[in-house]
Amino acid sequence: MESPVSPKSPQTSETVPATASGTAPDAAPPCCPSRRTALAAAGAVGAVFVTGCSGDGGSGDGDSGALLARTSEIPVGGGKIIKDRKIVVTQPVAGDFKAFSAICTHQGCTVNRIANGLIECPCHGSRFRITDGVVTAGPAPRPLPAEAIKVSGGNIVRA
Ligand code: FES
Repeated sequence: MESPVSPKSPQTSETVPATASGTAPDAAPPCCPSRRTALAAAGAVGAVFVTGCSGDGGSGDGDSGALLARTSEIPVGGGKIIKDRKIVVTQPVAGDFKAFSAICTHQGCTVNRIANGLIECPCHGSRFRITDGVVTAGPAPRPLPAEAIKVSGGNIVRA
């Protein structure tokens, strides 16, 4: 006699992307509790909440005109991470400035390094091009969203 099959699998419906090392990325990014931690906390108090760490990037905080950096601070072929505004400003070629969200599209960590033409995320190794924010490595599913900037008189400001 066959035993009934439970409609619920012992595994959760949570999708956990594999990492290059083969370990589950359960470690929470610095800005957010892990999903499991958040769900456990919600269950403990009988409430459901959303952490606000969507991992979608984009600061969009409406600070048009805010000074981000001086053009002289942005190396050609590199960039600068403005952590307090969660923006990366790059200069792929002389005089051509770009800006992207500094929030990784994987699990919401803030990128922390720019080297060899790439913006790097410390959490799971994603890499993004300084030219267009496109993913070149790692688990990040989408490019870093572009941020609107203006360059005026040696200042780079939010558009
Ligand atoms: Fe996972 Fe950036 S948060 S690679």
